[in-house]
Amino acid sequence: MSVVAIIGAQWGDEGKGKIVDVLAEKADAVIRFSGGDNAGHTVINPRGEFKLHIVPSGIFYPRTACIIGNGLVINPKVLIEELDSLKARGVDVGNLHISDRAHLIMPWHLLLDGLEEEKRGHSALGTTKKGIGPAFADKTARIGIRTCDLIKFENFKSRLSEILEIKNEILEKVYNLKPLDFDSILKEYDGYATRLIPHIKDTTAMVNDLLEKGGKVVLEGAQGAMLDPDFGSYPFVTSSSPLAAGACIGSGISPRKIDRVVGIFKAYTTRVGGGPMPTELTDAVGEYIRQHAHEYGATTGRARRCGWFDAVVGRYTTQLNGFTSAILTRLDVLDEMDTVKICIAYKENSSVIDRFPADVNSLDRCEPVYEELPGWKATTSDIRDFKKLPVNARKYIRRIEELIECSFHIISIGPRRDQSIIIKRII
Ligand code: GDP
Ligand code: IMO
Ligand code: MG
Repeated sequence: MSVVAIIGAQWGDEGKGKIVDVLAEKADAVIRFSGGDNAGHTVINPRGEFKLHIVPSGIFYPRTACIIGNGLVINPKVLIEELDSLKARGVDVGNLHISDRAHLIMPWHLLLDGLEEEKRGHSALGTTKKGIGPAFADKTARIGIRTCDLIKFENFKSRLSEILEIKNEILEKVYNLKPLDFDSILKEYDGYATRLIPHIKDTTAMVNDLLEKGGKVVLEGAQGAMLDPDFGSYPFVTSSSPLAAGACIGSGISPRKIDRVVGIFKAYTTRVGGGPMPTELTDAVGEYIRQHAHEYGATTGRARRCGWFDAVVGRYTTQLNGFTSAILTRLDVLDEMDTVKICIAYKENSSVIDRFPADVNSLDRCEPVYEELPGWKATTSDIRDFKKLPVNARKYIRRIEELIECSFHIISIGPRRDQSIIIKRII
């Protein structure tokens, strides 16, 4: 038995897709456990470049079962389009399974995500406008519609009728909009049901059976720990837990069965959307990273905010998740830097703090305290042996390990599957 959880350790986009594509070769199943199509996971392998939003990044290995867990909210239209585009590129999606407990994104979720953002004005969160927040809110409010309702379509019909009444009141009375039409939603989702039913099943039973037989499972995180609704930079967070604890909830695997929790860290920091980011660089260095690394969102195309590595965040997310090892990605992006900086603490007014504060206003006042290290000024993307990395790159890596209190087992030095330095096998 072996269960490995892959967790974003910053604000998302750390390179989880690439790493899952590397690890999935040895896995019997890969399970996405949180979020929805707000995620954008880039995979570059011999089949080409892919941006996956809902389908797990293990899909390129036909032997590996790919499961969309109960913890997701699924936009069926987006999922069908993603499956069609994978099929059109010759990828076999026959081993794709959808939890019968996952929630569906409905037309009002998409509408309300946009309307609520507009209402927030200057304090907009910068959501992906994929309906994620409203869909998770309805799940908690017990007015969600699930994939199992697509199978028993009479249940779908009665849930739709009850819930649409509530939603139309909001659309009409709060937002002065026309009500949504029951018949056209019913027809639209009937079409989705026909397409998706062959994939919908009790994936919790499926995965636990697999584990009983000694199978290996990779849990694929979406977003990053700093976007967690409890521990992230609230309210500038997402609406489901990207943490290791969320991996259990979103898959139906017990915490006792998780063997390894692996944190994915980018060699610097990025964030897309609003909210505090203490190490953000609004100068030429930040712009250099954005252009050089093409830091633009895989889902929305928005420019990502870029900054130095934040070890206060790294230590915090290591603690929250209990990382047993870490993976450093995009080291190659820093190859040309004269010096590299690591944020080791924050200064708020006259006091130095080494903990991530709860209050975003306090975070806004935090100035990073940096340690500056010499750069390595050498190309790293062709290196496959840790010992062959330039000495200053190794010093940078070792210093981060000390600060976050966790060791790196893979160093990623390029977006392709083969551009990985394996220090210790993870699966
Ligand atoms: P995810 O959401 O965590 O899967 O990450 P994204 O796919 O949104 O963003 C990560 C970006 O970094 C993608 O464009 C990847 O192709 C790219 N990438 C991943 N690892 C590396 C690396 O080691 N070096 C470089 N240069 N790019 C990488
Ligand atoms: P992956 O899996 C980066 C951010 C949004 C916004 C906030 C809330 O690719 O790492 P939401 O649409 O979830 O309500 O938006 O969360 N966000 C991400 N940022 N990577 C992601 O996923 C993200 N998913 C959501 O930009 O700030
Ligand atoms: Mg991404």
